[in-house]
Amino acid sequence: MTTWRKEAPSYHFAMPCGIIPRPGMEKPMIRLCAPDELAEGHSRGFLIDRDTLFAVRKDGQVFVYRNRCPHRGIPLDGVPDQFFDDSGSLIQCAAHGALFLIESGECVAGPCAGQSLSALPCTETADGIWITPWAQA
Ligand code: FES
Repeated sequence: MTTWRKEAPSYHFAMPCGIIPRPGMEKPMIRLCAPDELAEGHSRGFLIDRDTLFAVRKDGQVFVYRNRCPHRGIPLDGVPDQFFDDSGSLIQCAAHGALFLIESGECVAGPCAGQSLSALPCTETADGIWITPWAQA
């Protein structure tokens, strides 16, 4: 299990000025990063306004969640950009070890078993990984 540290993790900034209306889209989206900045099997944290999010890539697909454990509402990462357990197959809360499915955010072990992370819809294009922050997946 990852050791939880008390200092605040650092995040990659996706500032509101990054809101770019894309042709054909009803609502503007925020670009988190370039596709190649989130490699297969990796995770990455982001700060948008005061909201922290994280993105993970598994089997080529990107999943984005709010960085908030349903157990206590605190950030999941104890080390910047480290959201996985040691096996790399589950998302883990560094504070008390809750484990979540990457594809759905459902907690499958730990104090919040049966609850889920809050997912955000995301879209990947050739020029970025995009989210609609006010929508739920
Ligand atoms: S705060 Fe995440 S498991 Fe307790």
